Amino acid sequence: MATFTLPKNSKITGKGKSHTVDGGSRVKKFKIYRYDPDSGANPRYDKFEIDLDNCGPMVLDALFKIKNETDPTLTFRRSCREGICGSCAMNMNGKNGLACTTAIEDLPGEIRITPLPHMEVIKDLVPDFTHFYAQYASIRPWLQSVSPTPSGKERLQSPEQREKLDGLYECILCACCSTSCPSYWWNSDKFLGPAILLQAYRWLADSRDEMTGERLDQLEDPFRLYRCHTIMNCANVCPKGLSPAKAIAETKKMMAERAI
Ligand code: SF4
Ligand code: SF4
Ligand code: FES
Repeated sequence: MATFTLPKNSKITGKGKSHTVDGGSRVKKFKIYRYDPDSGANPRYDKFEIDLDNCGPMVLDALFKIKNETDPTLTFRRSCREGICGSCAMNMNGKNGLACTTAIEDLPGEIRITPLPHMEVIKDLVPDFTHFYAQYASIRPWLQSVSPTPSGKERLQSPEQREKLDGLYECILCACCSTSCPSYWWNSDKFLGPAILLQAYRWLADSRDEMTGERLDQLEDPFRLYRCHTIMNCANVCPKGLSPAKAIAETKKMMAERAI
């Protein structure tokens, strides 16, 4: 259910700390959201200066530099540092993206970093993905078939059948798209959102899957699928260049075709 006021303890009212550097010819300022539920304090912004001559080129490099050299309590997720795991998704200067593939030089002025929007925050830049993963599990994201596997063989696809998975299988479940979607902001309890709907279509489009009818039945609901209003924020932010909006449109087309 949509709520239009923020809980009192989520407002950014806390007084932040400032960390400056002495000298340096390429000093860049970072303003980073901090929240520690154990402290009982409201969130705050801390400011950090970094000399880019002594830092790697990506936003994730800057976060590591701050954590390693200035404030070891700064908390963020990361794993692969090359755009594969999706765990470093965050909001940088108002746009969701991956910190490891976003160049500092591409962000003008002071860089403001916050967690992915409209998710509960566990600490600092770490959002709570519990609900997102439960929604993912609800679409049964695995191959389902009733016919037996050909003995001793794989379930084969033609090149044309395999091609239908392009633009879908590359999704890394970073949630940049879902947390950019206004419909998901207001109805994430019932609307599956672009990331999960793209994943749902990935199985609808798979020639080896034999549960198409059941999968469509599960999506046929005023909220789960039809809260997408084609606003297209999802396609604008996807760091892998995918279009969840297109996958959603294809799913709606399948719904319409089976109703005829
Ligand atoms: S196209 Fe649909 S899913 Fe994508 S941002 Fe817009 S409403 Fe959300
Ligand atoms: S569609 Fe793109 S933005 Fe959305 S979860 Fe997958 S990789 Fe991330
Ligand atoms: S650290 Fe894996 S995508 Fe950024």
